[in-house]
Amino acid sequence: MRSRIGVLCSGGDSPGMNAAIRAVVRTALYLGYEPVGIYRGYEGLIDGEMETLHANSVSGIIQRGGTILRAGRSPRFLSPDGRQQAYQQLQRWNIQKLIVIGGDGTFRGAQDFINEYPDIQVLGLPGTIDNDLNGTDWTIGFDTAVNIALDAIDRLRDTAAAMGRLFLVEVMGRDAGFIALHTAVAGGAEAVLVPETPTDFDSIVRVLERGWQRQKTSAIIVVAEGDEAGGAILAAEQLRQRFPHYEIRATVLGHIQRGGSPTAHDRILASKLGVVAVERLHEGATGAMVGIHCDETILTPFSKAVKSHSPLNPLLLRIVEMLSL
Ligand code: F6P
Repeated sequence: MRSRIGVLCSGGDSPGMNAAIRAVVRTALYLGYEPVGIYRGYEGLIDGEMETLHANSVSGIIQRGGTILRAGRSPRFLSPDGRQQAYQQLQRWNIQKLIVIGGDGTFRGAQDFINEYPDIQVLGLPGTIDNDLNGTDWTIGFDTAVNIALDAIDRLRDTAAAMGRLFLVEVMGRDAGFIALHTAVAGGAEAVLVPETPTDFDSIVRVLERGWQRQKTSAIIVVAEGDEAGGAILAAEQLRQRFPHYEIRATVLGHIQRGGSPTAHDRILASKLGVVAVERLHEGATGAMVGIHCDETILTPFSKAVKSHSPLNPLLLRIVEMLSL
């Protein structure tokens, strides 16, 4: 009987997860393993919701958003009992190697699991739109989410300019400002509100005043959902009182940032990381996330990957400030 490699997606889905699953399945087959797909993340692992996958099982999915394995958060996996049931299922299915695709919570769960069951080898792939993991320059799905938010901002700019309005656009990112900052730079936003820096409404008003003086017809402010201002709707309230010139509207993009076809960047990233994860598992690695740094694939222990995230690029922060003249 061939050795088996299990693969699951956990936490929130992200565009490119399917490309990663495809890479894992095909590489596993290439190296002589039998890949097993585990449905609904750790929940499906606990319930033994799995099936053997073949090369054809992952045909035609590289361009699809979401995940064919489904995803989800698992309260049961937080408890030793839940993890014991998961271990028993892995034994029943004769799986000793596991690849988990997800973010922060996924890797914390994986670390707890291998602390208790070190005979199972586990590697992780960074699948989250938030880009909030140490040990990788890019997470799978981030680039797509930024491009979706950017498309929305380009559209909002049209109506903002036509109507002479200020739009506050709220993007996802949990407690990190990566999506907001990258979207703001690419969309030529007048300002960005991110959790990593203090939000100063006086300086935002100064930027808006300056634009108003030189007869700018519109303004866009990108707001990270985790910013201390409390999101776009509350930030709009604050600005309405301080800056009466523009009509102000707030738009919350929400989960549309997580759906749709992944960009070429995300598909390539997912393919690279998926292939390398299986190769490293094959060589005996465990307990780490496979990420990319300066175009090299690297392994970072789960405990370090989830500890914090790298700082926002200060150049990007300066760009928003300087180019919003
Ligand atoms: O972590 C991905 C993410 O989309 C965050 O950006 C967001 O805060 C969160 O998940 C939303 O979670 P849910 O899909 O459970 O509402």
